[in-house]
Amino acid sequence: MHTSSDVSIANALAAATERLRAGGGDTPRLDAEVLLAHVLGVARAALLTHPDRALTDEERSSYDVLIGRRARGEPVAYLVGARDWYDLTLQVTPAVLVPRPETEGLLERALAWARARRIRTAVDVGTGSGALAIALARALPGAAVYATDLSPAALDVARANARRIDPALNLTFLHGDLLAPLPEPIDLIVANLPYIGEEEYTGLMPDVRLYEPRAALVGGPEGHELIARLLSMAPAWLRPGGALFLELGPPQAAPALLAARAIFPDAAIRLDNDYAGLARYLVVDIARWAARDDAHHDSGRVPGRVQPAFHGACAGGDRVVRQQARAGVPPRLARGQRGLARPHRAHGNDAGGSRRHEPLPVHRAARGGGCPSLG
Ligand SMILES: C[S@@+](CC[C@H](N)C(=O)[O-])C[C@H]1O[C@@H](n2cnc3c(N)ncnc32)[C@H](O)[C@@H]1O
Repeated sequence: MHTSSDVSIANALAAATERLRAGGGDTPRLDAEVLLAHVLGVARAALLTHPDRALTDEERSSYDVLIGRRARGEPVAYLVGARDWYDLTLQVTPAVLVPRPETEGLLERALAWARARRIRTAVDVGTGSGALAIALARALPGAAVYATDLSPAALDVARANARRIDPALNLTFLHGDLLAPLPEPIDLIVANLPYIGEEEYTGLMPDVRLYEPRAALVGGPEGHELIARLLSMAPAWLRPGGALFLELGPPQAAPALLAARAIFPDAAIRLDNDYAGLARYLVVDIARWAARDDAHHDSGRVPGRVQPAFHGACAGGDRVVRQQARAGVPPRLARGQRGLARPHRAHGNDAGGSRRHEPLPVHRAARGGGCPSLG
């Protein structure tokens, strides 16, 4: 039997909001509403239309538990087991990164590019919850979409999301490192890989650092290493006329840009800012490079092998960055990238939303820049 407590929705929300605010939460009212709506099994709007409805004792105690966990920093998305992202509701567990709003910007750019062409294949590298892969497969029904991840637990979450959202999607999940598990060449590579440096990681807000998987956040000592390794693998997998769309953090923008220029010297390469004005998206459109290299692509090259020519080019880029870093000069950056003139440190947020940033001295962008070992 459900006994009614003397606590109304309005009072429960007010008390929970106060508790979360006192604990330093950035969005206490929003979190309190999302969690209460979850406990009651109603939409958030219903809380406002029935403020006098009394909570049962069971509802009140479940709500108390969730508010306590939230006050200790657990992301709301893990507490309710889901996150709305783009036009999807994705189930999330602590095995996957909570999809961020910035990644919608990556998807929109990739879709705008893909819709202007007839692409046959696309891949989401490091799929996590499956957000990008599922959205791509829904928007590009004519393409075979692949999604890779190193984490079997993440792939389980992504597969379950895809099955629940649309079991008929032309979407294949593959376990393995970056592009290595792919069975065929690719027109469109999209990736939101881990891109936080080890030092940056120690400065992340506890909500992110203590709850989200480290393997989904840290991209190497400086953060850009995994992105650079993906760039170095891409020439062996991209079809002529293909493109890469990569999400990154401002500190990784300069090294990633240099690596891309070295690996794809003739490609159209750009860095776009996110809505906060921070460098966030690296776009490499290889149309021209591929046209020049068509014979090579059609010659039955074995995927997975990087061409020796790229080793030299990338090593050169690396040298330039190190020289600039020694001289205290930031690498040459794309014009108009205000976010890049003042690199930022990623911080992550409370409710599994955006990673946030604070200014860093300029030299960090230059330090450690350059290419990965391409062997
Ligand atoms: C930042 S999360 C992004 C998840 C999802 N794409 C999104 O945007 O929400 C990065 C993902 O890359 C995966 N990952 C890390 N290293 C990888 C590698 N070498 N190859 C493939 N996936 C990797 C992690 O397991 C994690 O799921």
